[in-house]
Amino acid sequence: MTSYPFSDTAIATALRSTPPKKQADQKPGFSDLGLCVEILHALNVAGYTEPTAVQQRVIPAALAGHDLLVSSPTGSGKTAAFILPAIQRFAQTQHSNSAAPSERTRTPHRMQPARPALLVLTPTRELALQVTNAAATYGKRIKRLRTVSVLGGVPYRKQLELLAQQPDIVVATPGRLLDHLERSRIDLSELSMLVLDEADRMLDMGFIDAIKTIVAATPSSRQTLLFSATLDARIGALTQRLLKSPERIEVAHRPEQRDKIDQSIHWVDDRAHKDRLLTHLLSDTLLDQAIVFTATKSGANVLANLLCDAGFVSAALHGDLPQSARNRTLRALRERRVRVLVATDVAARGIDVPGITHVFNYDLPKFAEDYVHRIGRTGRAGRSGTAISLAHHGEMAIVRRIERLTRKTLPVRTIEGFEPRRAPSALAPRNPSVYRPSARTGAGARPDPRTFARRSSPRTLSVGAAHTRKSASQSKARAARSY
Ligand SMILES: Nc1ncnc2c1ncn2[C@@H]1O[C@H](COP(=O)(O)OP(=O)(O)OP(=O)(O)O)[C@@H](O)[C@H]1O
Ligand SMILES: [Mg+2]
Repeated sequence: MTSYPFSDTAIATALRSTPPKKQADQKPGFSDLGLCVEILHALNVAGYTEPTAVQQRVIPAALAGHDLLVSSPTGSGKTAAFILPAIQRFAQTQHSNSAAPSERTRTPHRMQPARPALLVLTPTRELALQVTNAAATYGKRIKRLRTVSVLGGVPYRKQLELLAQQPDIVVATPGRLLDHLERSRIDLSELSMLVLDEADRMLDMGFIDAIKTIVAATPSSRQTLLFSATLDARIGALTQRLLKSPERIEVAHRPEQRDKIDQSIHWVDDRAHKDRLLTHLLSDTLLDQAIVFTATKSGANVLANLLCDAGFVSAALHGDLPQSARNRTLRALRERRVRVLVATDVAARGIDVPGITHVFNYDLPKFAEDYVHRIGRTGRAGRSGTAISLAHHGEMAIVRRIERLTRKTLPVRTIEGFEPRRAPSALAPRNPSVYRPSARTGAGARPDPRTFARRSSPRTLSVGAAHTRKSASQSKARAARSY
């Protein structure tokens, strides 16, 4: 877990959407949230001095036992918001059971199914591993707390050995968890807390059947927490079946935080133009590390090779690579041995690598909410970042959907020597008067006085809003997508 000087970023202050109950000059600290000394110590070691806004609101509500539906911006600390109360609960149970340890604590056995108390489901293996690491970091000083990941791409034998340890926390991707459920290697009848991280993704058509089966194996007494940076109207109907009288917690960007990610579009004529422009943009001296998103796995391979040939230390990440190679690549990125990661949407959600200063949409995402998650790989935890989309003129519709979702006009920029060939008239703005040049231009770019969306005030992505209602065909396309 990477720590950083919290005073620089002050995300707890910057992202706070409601004033704390304490006096204005007193910020609530972790010790005000009902966490035990072992957890407070681990947070201190991790360099966390103050809870972020979402942590301030979620931790007490979760400890009080409420079901929660939480939306909070990318990089705002949602992981600790759900892991910390779970660990706290475990520590309390351990304390009260210390005189008489449970049967499963005393006799771990290979043939006994694992009976976790907390289950976290994530859409990707990489995110599951990251959440497992976070739980290990925050729970380091809690005796007998065992956390394991259950994911595809890992040999069964190894996983059975992990499950035989009788973990208290299981972090899983749905497919492999289902396998273990069917083989009675996991028993969820003692589950006390279920978390769906990236809940909107977990409840869309690609995962929903697996989630229903998993939920059916859990007791109705469980507490259920749903988290995402993008929760919309579609999730509403499904949550009625999953959650009991849920409390909704919505944490918005504060105004000064909203523009921490400098977003822009460059129009391109064709792939060759895109490649030339991308290699130029990657030479920005302000760029530390970057993720370049492509639409396809083969596209990621081709582009990673092209960038390597152009002298950038690059690697591809997508679902066709063996899991060991995927893990190696992500480790190399975290250890700064890879500068440019070329990835499909497998890296779009949840992945936290502090060195990522730039995100490029080499191919635009199919769905507007994926844009929010992709660009959220930079500008995390109060840092700033740059997100540049390379769009073809035929992609106006998705650009407009992104602008509608984010309620943000994406400034169009051009760079001398890399201008699109198409005449400006063909790119006529809908409403030219709305263009407002950004203060940051980066990489020698200059603002282009054209825009492609109506101006509207930024707002929170909130539960119940109807801004991303999807057609049936879009939902089907979503079910079929593979990273
Ligand atoms: N209280 C805190 N103080 C300092 N750093 C923190 C704090 N809470 C979380 N962080 C750090 O902030 C970063 C982002 O946290 P996290 O990955 O949980 O964000 P997230 O809200 O889940 O984002 P996403 O929506 O992209 O998944 C991590 O590097 C984490 O270590
Ligand atoms: Mg997250």
